[in-house]
Amino acid sequence: MPHRKKLLLVLLAALLPLSIASAGGDKLDFVGYMTKMQYFAHKLGLSVDAGNVALQDYYAHEVEEIVEKLEQVDDYKGIPVAKLLKTTLAPAFETLEDAVKAGDAPAVNAAYDGLLAACNNCHKAANHAYIHMEHRSDNPYIQTFAP
Ligand code: HEC
Repeated sequence: MPHRKKLLLVLLAALLPLSIASAGGDKLDFVGYMTKMQYFAHKLGLSVDAGNVALQDYYAHEVEEIVEKLEQVDDYKGIPVAKLLKTTLAPAFETLEDAVKAGDAPAVNAAYDGLLAACNNCHKAANHAYIHMEHRSDNPYIQTFAP
C-alpha cells in the first residue's frame, strides 16, 4: 500500500530529530540502561559460575559500555549518576575486569559479588535501596554458558 508507506516515511522523518535529541541525554532512558545492566550482569554471573573466561570477557564489555554511557549523566531526577558511579560501580568493575584478564577464577568470583554489592550501594545512595541484586545461578535462557 503506497499510501501507507508514504505515511510511514513522514512519521519516520518526524521522529528522527527526536531520537537525535534523546541521544543528547535530555530524554535519557535511564531505566532502559538499568534493564540492560541487569540482563548483562546476570549473564556475566552465569559465565562466572561456568568458569567461561571468553564469555566473562564478552559480558564484562557489555556492562562496560553501559557504565560508559552512564558516566556521561551528571544528573538524573536529582541523582548525581556520574559521581555515584565513581564511588560504587566503576572501581568494582575495574577489579572484576582485572581478575577476568588474569583468569583468576576465585578472584573473578569475589569481584563479581563485589560488582553486585556496588549496584546495591548505588541503589541505596540513590534512594532506591528496594532494588536489590543477588548472585543467582539459575539459567533462564536457551543459551548455554559452558566453556
Ligand atoms: C549510579 C547509580 C546506579 C548504579 C551504579 C546502578 N544502578 Fe540500577 N538503578 C539506579 C536508579 C536510580 C534506579 C531507578 C531508576 C528509576 O526508576 O527511574 C535503578 C534501577 C535499576 C533496576 C530496575 C529497573 C529494571 O529494569 O527492573 C535494575 C534491575 C537495576 N537498577 C539494576 C542494576 C544493576 C544490575 C547494577 C549493577 C551492575 C546497577 N543497577 C547499578 C541507579 C544505579
